[in-house]
Amino acid sequence: MLGSLPDGSHVLVQGASRGIGLEFVRQCAADARIATVVAACRRPMEASDLQALAARDPRVRPVALDVTDEASIRSAAAEVARIVPRLHLVVQCAGLLHDAARGITPEKRLADVHADALLASFAVNAWGPLLVAKHFERLLDHRERAIHASISARVGSIGDNRLGGWYAYRGSKAAQNMFTKTLAIEWSRTRRNVICVALHPGTTDTDLSNPFQGNVAPERLFSSERTVRQLLGVIDRLQPTDTGRFLAWDGTEIPW
Ligand SMILES: NC(=O)c1ccc[n+]([C@@H]2O[C@H](COP(=O)([O-])OP(=O)(O)OC[C@H]3O[C@@H](n4cnc5c(N)ncnc54)[C@H](OP(=O)(O)O)[C@@H]3O)[C@@H](O)[C@H]2O)c1
Repeated sequence: MLGSLPDGSHVLVQGASRGIGLEFVRQCAADARIATVVAACRRPMEASDLQALAARDPRVRPVALDVTDEASIRSAAAEVARIVPRLHLVVQCAGLLHDAARGITPEKRLADVHADALLASFAVNAWGPLLVAKHFERLLDHRERAIHASISARVGSIGDNRLGGWYAYRGSKAAQNMFTKTLAIEWSRTRRNVICVALHPGTTDTDLSNPFQGNVAPERLFSSERTVRQLLGVIDRLQPTDTGRFLAWDGTEIPW
């Protein structure tokens, strides 16, 4: 599955409690060539599906990490450095589109925009993954192939924005994309082994998309299993010259 990575590779999935992130953990752990799958999420003890995977497979290592809390990211990075000597694949999956408990729902119009929803969305989608990259960078400091994949969304594309709305999600995903591109440029100078990309998974049947699936044709709504299989295929085919690109699940380029 991940034939391009060295035998005995170590993987980090952040946002591993459910949805696409959990499925990344499952499929990476199903690959016998992967030595360790570090599965980072806010509350590992409450992530029952992840705990079940870890109970069956000691290569799956749950770690607590809240992308909105830099101290938590720092301490997760220290813990992970005690588990693995280096990382070959980092998949950044945490995402926020709606949260009923906090009154966050995608905005239809300007009047729906609220500062607290903007802040929460940017913290999870935009600068959370950047801070994770900052604290885990030293584990990418090696000479073997390494991939940093930030799971973004086509709606974060400015060039592709035809419908408007969803200010907080669109804006935070556009910022995530800018951070990914900027990081790719820095690492093309300082960490030449790392290929750093933004990936669009396609509409996937998870809690995140659940309230918005009504307008999606059945053949355009992927299972998590299909989405992750497709994204691992894209990841496996990445070349060093692909660093800094924004790619969809089928490998096609998305305009920034
Ligand atoms: N599903 C789609 O159709 C779709 C389409 C395009 C892009 N995407 C992107 O794909 C990624 C995965 O989405 P999904 O569909 O799997 O969503 P999901 O099922 O709602 O899962 C979201 C994940 O983000 C985690 N998360 C939220 N806030 C966090 C925080 N502060 N710290 C750490 N983790 C946090 C959640 O952890 P908890 O369990 O702790 O809440 C959960 O693991 C997201 O970046 C999303 O924007 C999804």
